[in-house]
Amino acid sequence: MTTFAAAKRYFSINSMEIKRIQAAEAAAMIENGHTLGLSGFTPAGVPKCVTAEVAKKAHAEHEAGRPFKVNIFTGASTGQSCDGMLANEQAIGLRAPYTTNPDFRKHVNLNEIRYTDLNLSNMATQIRQGYLGDVDWAIIEACDVEIHGSKAHIFLTAAGGISPTVCRLAKRGIFVELNAFHSPKSKGLHDVYEIEYHPYRTPINITKPSDRIGKPYVEVDADRILGIIECNIPDEARAFKDPDPITTKIGQNVADFLVQNMREGKIPPTFLNLQSGVGSGANAVLGALGHSTEVPNFNIYTEVLQDAPVQLMREGRVLSASACSLTVTNECLKGIYDDIDFFKDKLVLRPSEISNNPEVIARIGVCSLNTAIEADIYGHVNSTKICGTKMMNGIGGSADFTCNSYLSIFTCGSTTKGGAISSIVPFASHIDHTSHFVDAVITEYGVADLRGKCAMEKAEELIKVAHPDYQPLLRDYLRYAEKYSGHTHHCLSAAFAMHDTFLRKGDMRLTDLAEYVK
Ligand code: COA
Repeated sequence: MTTFAAAKRYFSINSMEIKRIQAAEAAAMIENGHTLGLSGFTPAGVPKCVTAEVAKKAHAEHEAGRPFKVNIFTGASTGQSCDGMLANEQAIGLRAPYTTNPDFRKHVNLNEIRYTDLNLSNMATQIRQGYLGDVDWAIIEACDVEIHGSKAHIFLTAAGGISPTVCRLAKRGIFVELNAFHSPKSKGLHDVYEIEYHPYRTPINITKPSDRIGKPYVEVDADRILGIIECNIPDEARAFKDPDPITTKIGQNVADFLVQNMREGKIPPTFLNLQSGVGSGANAVLGALGHSTEVPNFNIYTEVLQDAPVQLMREGRVLSASACSLTVTNECLKGIYDDIDFFKDKLVLRPSEISNNPEVIARIGVCSLNTAIEADIYGHVNSTKICGTKMMNGIGGSADFTCNSYLSIFTCGSTTKGGAISSIVPFASHIDHTSHFVDAVITEYGVADLRGKCAMEKAEELIKVAHPDYQPLLRDYLRYAEKYSGHTHHCLSAAFAMHDTFLRKGDMRLTDLAEYVK
């Protein structure tokens, strides 16, 4: 066995060499129309050198009057050196499945990028099925590469993503970014397992979050690695907003609701495995749950592990965690690497196809906690589109978990933009999660428990958790809608009155329903 770090200029394997190359040399091989399959999931574990050089190449090609766009497939979002720089250079053709980058968002909403929003568990599957076209290059961030005979073992960094699938399928080859920021001490964190092709799939043998069923590395034929780029670059992690009185109250409401459910025997006394979504809200909710004295120590089965649960692992509140990525601040990531002996048997990183797998989620019993952009009075949830048209980030793994959970919860502040927008509306302007899959919506005003309720009872529950400024408006809507009553009450001409008023006047509180009722 040879490790890359020990080799001087290149590995020599029989007569074959894996060269150290510069990122620009890799970018020079990438042509207009090629598809790049990247490691990473959220900015964690995403390669950062080659894509930045591809953006420079795109700039030069466009200056020379030649077309240049690449397609980008990843586990989830990336950072500025990928989605941001490439979007700003008009260099992205097709992009899937999720992104949080503000520059990318701007260009998507100008319709300059063919963005296809997918459930994250499905990304590797759809590549394998050929739905998205071929992958030309895999670009993988690694903390080490080992050579064993004709095979190379690539040790991933802070995320599993779609790496095994794109490494296997990349037609032209693999580039590895060996990033010294990620300690080779982290080598045992990953459990790399790829699902078989249909119809030969076998059960995924995970019955608890800490189970391991694969290998700690991605194995490839060594001669498919066309170059190793050495670098030392931190993850492009986003900082979290500190918990505020609203997110803290939401967290308390979630904790009280779960404790009450446990007392009533609706969830097992051993508690459920928790999944928590992305963003500052989700981070705050999980932190609050961890600090509730009545919530027992718990396990996590999720896609994104943020700072709060890592701290809870240190405190013994979280016993074990399975995730796809460590979407943590760089300080938190360094802390994990420094204490790797503590984390190694408690923390498992998996490819997104497994971390978000419906079969596993349904089997092990998960309580999903995701953040909604808005929920309507009948319990349909919008996770992706502002006022029905502007893409925020994408659906991420929220549906993977919501549809398969034992108990699915959405949280959100009752208002946003200083109160000008209500998160509870008559009709969601876009629907990602239908009411069939939504068990509860929790705001700082309480819990709308939708289980076992008919549509009109759900409306009562949801109006209760709306901001008091909006409760009269929502009740007025129901009164107007009664005229058109069926199983649900809707007055279609007024269903989007609050959204329309926001778009015209900048504040939903100015809605005059009478103007809209026909
Ligand atoms: N109308 C307009 N804007 C809204 C809005 C609404 N109904 N609800 C939220 N927003 C805006 C906020 O004002 C904020 O804007 P800003 O960045 O200009 O301040 C932004 O959306 C983010 O909202 P915030 O309250 O800070 O929440 P967050 O960081 O917790 O993110 C989501 C919330 C919904 C965007 C995020 O959770 C997400 O992308 N979810 C979809 C994917 C998902 O659920 N993945 C988890 C699976 S594990």
